[in-house]
Amino acid sequence: MSKEELELDTLEGIGPVTKQKLIDAGIYTILDLTIRGPMEIADALGWDLHRAIELCNKARMKLIELGKLEKDFVSASEVYKKRQAIERITTGSKNLDDLLGGGIETQAVTEFYGEFGSGKTQICHTLCVTVQLPREKGGLQAGAVYIDTENTFRPERIIEIASARGLNPEQVLQRVIVAKAYNSAHQELIVGELGSVINENNIKLVIVDSAVAHFRVEFLGRSTLAERQQRLNHFMHLLLRTAEAYNVAFVVTNQVQAAPDVFFGDPSKPTGGHVVAHTSTYRIYLRKAAKNRIARMVDSPYHPEREAVFILNEKGIDDPEEETPRKK
Ligand SMILES: Nc1ncnc2c1ncn2[C@@H]1O[C@H](COP(=O)(O)OP(=O)(O)OP(=O)(O)O)[C@@H](O)[C@H]1O
Ligand SMILES: [Mg+2]
Repeated sequence: MSKEELELDTLEGIGPVTKQKLIDAGIYTILDLTIRGPMEIADALGWDLHRAIELCNKARMKLIELGKLEKDFVSASEVYKKRQAIERITTGSKNLDDLLGGGIETQAVTEFYGEFGSGKTQICHTLCVTVQLPREKGGLQAGAVYIDTENTFRPERIIEIASARGLNPEQVLQRVIVAKAYNSAHQELIVGELGSVINENNIKLVIVDSAVAHFRVEFLGRSTLAERQQRLNHFMHLLLRTAEAYNVAFVVTNQVQAAPDVFFGDPSKPTGGHVVAHTSTYRIYLRKAAKNRIARMVDSPYHPEREAVFILNEKGIDDPEEETPRKK
C-alpha cells in the first residue's frame, strides 16, 4: 500500500499541528484514523466528538475512493473477492491445521484458551517460526509481532523450534518483533501503533499472549466487571479491525481454570467471558491429556465442532507419533 497517498495531511482539515498530535497518539495514516475511530481521535486532539466523527468520515470516503476500504454496501461477489485474499499459516501440526481448515487465517482473530500448561504459549512461539516458512511449506515468508504481557516470550525457544524445523535460527529471530505490554492501557497503545510496524516489516502474524491477563488483574471485583468487559470488548474490536485492514492474522491467548464442576455445564469458561468469545473469529479450547494436548474448535461459523490431538516437543507443537485425529 503506497504510503504517500495515505499521509494524514492529504486529508482536508489536517494541518501540521493536528498531524503532529495524531502522530504523537500513534496515528500515522488515514487508515489508522478509521481503525481507531472517532472517540479516540477526539481524545487525541481534544476535539468534540462531532468534529472527530466528521474527520473519520472524510478519512473513510478517501479510503473508499482509493479502493483501500470497502463501501458500506457491497455485492456478495466483492465480499467473496476480499475473502479470497485470506491466507493461512500452518501451526506445525497437521492435526491442528486440519481442525482449523488449513491453518491460522489472516483477517481473523483466533483465540486459544485453556488452563496453565495447556500449550497456548508454545503454539504462539511455534507460529512465530512457521509464518516465516516459504509458502509451499505452509508459511507466508513473513515476520511476526509478539505482544508479551506475561513475560513468557523466550527467544531460546524460538531458536530451538527454528533449528528443529531446519531454518536458520539467527534469521528467524530477526523477524520476530517483541513488544512488552506493562498494563492494559499500554497493550492497547501497542496495538494502536501496529500499522506502520506491519507495513515496514512485512508482518503477517500478531500474537497477544495473554490478551486478558492485564485486564483481569486491573479490574478485580464485581463493581468493575462491566468496565472490564467494555474495555476488553474495545480491545478485541481493535484487533479485528486491524486484522481486516492489514490482512494479518491475530492470535490471542486466554487462561481459564479447569472448573471442578466439569460434569455440569461448560468446563471451559474463558476469563474474558462472552465478550472475548463473541469477538474472536475462531476459538479453540485446549486441554491436557497426559503427554498429549487436545484442541477443540468451539462455535466457529463454519467448522464442525471436533477435536485434534497434538504434542509439545523440540519443534514447538507437532503431531503425535501415530496419527490419531479424534472426531467428536
Ligand atoms: N522445549 C520443550 N519441549 C517440550 N515441551 C516443552 C518445551 N518447552 C515447554 N514445553 C512444555 O510446554 C508446557 C507449557 O506450555 P505453555 O507454556 O504453552 O502453557 P500455557 O498454556 O501458555 O500456560 P499459561 O496459562 O500458564 O500461560 C509445559 O508442560 C512444558 O512441558
Ligand atoms: Mg502462557
